[in-house]
Amino acid sequence: MILVTGATGNVGRHVVGELLCAGAKVRALSRDPASARLPGEAEVAHSDEPPMDGVTAIFLNPAAFWNGADDLLARAVDHGVRRVVVLSSAAALDPDPSNDIAVRHLRIERAVEDSGMEWTFTRPGEFATNALAWRDAIRAGDPVREPYAAGRTTMIHERDIAAVAAKALLTDDLVGARPVLSGPEALTRPEQLRLIGQATGRPVRFEEITPEEARKELLSRPYMREGIADVLLRLRAESVDHPAEPTGEVERITGRSGRTFAEWAADHADDFC
Ligand SMILES: NC(=O)c1ccc[n+]([C@@H]2O[C@H](COP(=O)([O-])OP(=O)(O)OC[C@H]3O[C@@H](n4cnc5c(N)ncnc54)[C@H](OP(=O)(O)O)[C@@H]3O)[C@@H](O)[C@H]2O)c1
Repeated sequence: MILVTGATGNVGRHVVGELLCAGAKVRALSRDPASARLPGEAEVAHSDEPPMDGVTAIFLNPAAFWNGADDLLARAVDHGVRRVVVLSSAAALDPDPSNDIAVRHLRIERAVEDSGMEWTFTRPGEFATNALAWRDAIRAGDPVREPYAAGRTTMIHERDIAAVAAKALLTDDLVGARPVLSGPEALTRPEQLRLIGQATGRPVRFEEITPEEARKELLSRPYMREGIADVLLRLRAESVDHPAEPTGEVERITGRSGRTFAEWAADHADDFC
């Protein structure tokens, strides 16, 4: 039995799908099992006190367990769980000690290492699903306002992260590995928006704004903290002079081409309409 935390999320839903497809038994967690809309073959349980009976491996999404990961890991060890696969972050590689995103993920990684269970730390960079933040502007026909138009990032499709996580859960190939995951191409924001425009058939406009305006916009989002906003803006600034490069890890691990941003936009065209 594989326990999937954050199972209703961007990545978790696909982890559940991949595992069921491979014939594994899945216990999927949610704070609201009644509205989780997960496949009938998955057992759905409340994330408050997840049942651990029969669990051999855990997919740990920090987003669902920023508070409570230590307790979850202690219970896992008590119940003889053998393996944890963490949805960590490429930010963990940032040597800057003020990078709040890195600090939070490294803390979870360290707790998992200290637990003595087998582990894999998947470390994706920017999710393509972050582009869903542009949904309201695109639906309204307003320009998408972003800084650093020339910056290039390698947004990754959530299905590719899930495919790597499933491999780490189901095989021994990735025990002790920290693969840094990316999409297969480095694109600018205007290029990404053009691809969303092609997928949706709607005109999508881009407007470059200053970093100060972008900071204000980020801080107006629910749950956004200053430390996180500053890191996100610094990474965007760095992507101008040091464009992200595809890591090739999705291809190496899954044996398939990584999904392009055009494929992501086609998969999510309805989200923008
Ligand atoms: N976005 C990026 O660019 C990026 C890059 C690198 C790494 N990451 C990592 O990926 C994580 C996000 O993954 P994701 O997009 O798949 O997650 P997500 O969709 O944001 O959330 C996953 C699930 O966690 C539960 N959840 C959300 N907020 C919660 C809270 N405050 N307390 C308890 N449960 C909560 C929700 O499920 P229920 O409502 O069903 O309980 C949600 O469906 C980040 O936190 C980070 O660790 C993200």
